[in-house]
Amino acid sequence: MTRIAIFASGNGSNAENLICNLTYGRVVLLLCNKPGAYVLQRAQRLHVPTVLFSREELEDPDHEHSVLKLLKTHKIDFIILAGFLWKIPADLIRTWPQKIVNIHPALLPKYGGQGMYGDRVHKTVIENGEEKSGITIHIVDRQYDHGHIIYQESIQIYSSDTPETLALRIHILEHLRFPKAVDDYLKQLFKDPAV
Ligand code: GAR
Repeated sequence: MTRIAIFASGNGSNAENLICNLTYGRVVLLLCNKPGAYVLQRAQRLHVPTVLFSREELEDPDHEHSVLKLLKTHKIDFIILAGFLWKIPADLIRTWPQKIVNIHPALLPKYGGQGMYGDRVHKTVIENGEEKSGITIHIVDRQYDHGHIIYQESIQIYSSDTPETLALRIHILEHLRFPKAVDDYLKQLFKDPAV
């Protein structure tokens, strides 16, 4: 069974949806960088162990409580970023090549990068008069919101849309598609490790 860790920083609706609906693997650990984030309560309610970590623990592999050591101890096979806002360091990407994915609430490569998250994305998309937005699920590489895209889907933006209504519609689309997109990728990845 594929052992999955989720990284999340805030509300955690995608994390909860993945915990409940992934079929190919099992979420065995939830990692969070923000004390008090609601995602911690969601995971605890679903009996998924949670760990809070600092930037040093993420970025320094030699730290006594490094995230790298923790993931190895829990024998993690695959990592999902579900609303996680820090950059993933190189040693994690090297240790889990092609095995870290992220979801972004826009049509990458547009509207990604440092500082582009949550409502800021939707506000900028609407201010720029875009006709479409959507969701992107991609493999994580050394750059923010970059890397091979494994799933993308667009939705129409209506003239009546506000950043709030767009955020809501994008969230619904994420909830509908994220678990299946990850399951499909996992099946492909663990059938053919060269993917
Ligand atoms: C999601 O919309 C996700 O796409 C976005 O954060 C939100 C988290 O919502 N991620 C990014 O913006 C990453 N650049 P959630 O906490 O309710 O799952």
